[in-house]
Amino acid sequence: MSLDRKLLLGLAREYGTPLYVYDGDIIVRRYRELYDFIKWPDLKIHYAMKANYNLSILKALKEAGAGIDAVSPGDVMLALKAGFSPDNIIYTANNVSDEEVRQVKALGVLLNIGSLSRLEKFAGEFPGSSLCLRFNPDVVDGEHVKLMTGGDLTKFGILLQDVEKVKEIVAKYDLRVVGLHEHTGSGLQHSSSVFKSMENLMAVATPENFPDLRFLDFGGGFKVPYKPDEKRVDYVEMGAEITKLFSEFCAGYGKGLQMYFEPGKYIVAEGGYMLVRVNTIKDNKGRLIVGCNSGFPQLIRPMFYDAYHYIENISNPDGETKIYDICGNICESGDNFAARREMPEIRENDVLSIQNAGAYCYSMGGVYNLRAMPAEVFVRNGKAELARRALSSAELIDLIVGETN
Ligand SMILES: Cc1ncc(COP(=O)(O)O)c(C=O)c1O
Repeated sequence: MSLDRKLLLGLAREYGTPLYVYDGDIIVRRYRELYDFIKWPDLKIHYAMKANYNLSILKALKEAGAGIDAVSPGDVMLALKAGFSPDNIIYTANNVSDEEVRQVKALGVLLNIGSLSRLEKFAGEFPGSSLCLRFNPDVVDGEHVKLMTGGDLTKFGILLQDVEKVKEIVAKYDLRVVGLHEHTGSGLQHSSSVFKSMENLMAVATPENFPDLRFLDFGGGFKVPYKPDEKRVDYVEMGAEITKLFSEFCAGYGKGLQMYFEPGKYIVAEGGYMLVRVNTIKDNKGRLIVGCNSGFPQLIRPMFYDAYHYIENISNPDGETKIYDICGNICESGDNFAARREMPEIRENDVLSIQNAGAYCYSMGGVYNLRAMPAEVFVRNGKAELARRALSSAELIDLIVGETN
């Protein structure tokens, strides 16, 4: 844990709970260390802002030199507001509308197109344009089946076998394919999948197929440990292999291309905490059920992906351990943060810190049961500031009914 308990407890008291807290120092460190792992002179990291679009995080990463991987017009607009220039943003949405394509193109952002039908429509409307193409790497990996985006059973990317059809469209409309992209999945379990996906994309990235390439983009998916005893991936070793493969590829292509990655989870997961307070404790025939003042709409990963999040009782870290079910406040039996978890005694009013809550937690949130998303606090160099306040219930209702009534 990088932020200490005393600080977190103080923030819970000051801002109330539930509360998201982000450690900006860890986030920026994770971003920077990718450059230590992958020693390619022209490496560019586009942060996948879908993982966490908090403005303070975006600004800190912008200052550190990152680009942005955006997936909706809203993402692009927010990235521009955070100060990213359009040429530092790549747009990798899927199943997009014509209107969305026009909107993003008008903002000067490079589109990454992942289907033949979309490519044909784009080409018809914008002949002669530059673009990136998303291929499906034909490799299946990820930390949950819902997070595996490679393989022909998924909706993502153009199949590698369709490269000739791509070339026909490109030639017909005089397009300039400046980049090729693949993304295999989130939380990749095997380094071999990263290498295989790279190799599969590089196999179609020949000068004969695509003579105008500036970059290859190998997506995101770098795994982080969620369990306390989980081993960290050896990214130094993985980075060395990535560099070797890319260097061999560039020698064959005939020029040194830029290498892009677009991680989200790796950069922000470990820097996030969600603080919840215990409202009630129930003893169901010996099964201890802890009821917290937040639920799955505010942190959905355990319910959605059966994801494990380490939980600490920061109010009573040295208590005698017992086994608990840590539950939310939503009317669904799946609304649990953890089941049968051994941890120091939990008492009503204690504050629990749900760790690794920086990626796909706040950003996947919603307002089910009409509970507004919690506030977010950003900590940098030991200084905490409110990065986004929570809406009150009255403000939330105003937003919902204000427009139409
Ligand atoms: C196309 C694309 N790129 C990058 C990412 C970021 O993945 P991660 O947060 O696992 O690094 C995702 C996540 O789903 C994605 O779909």
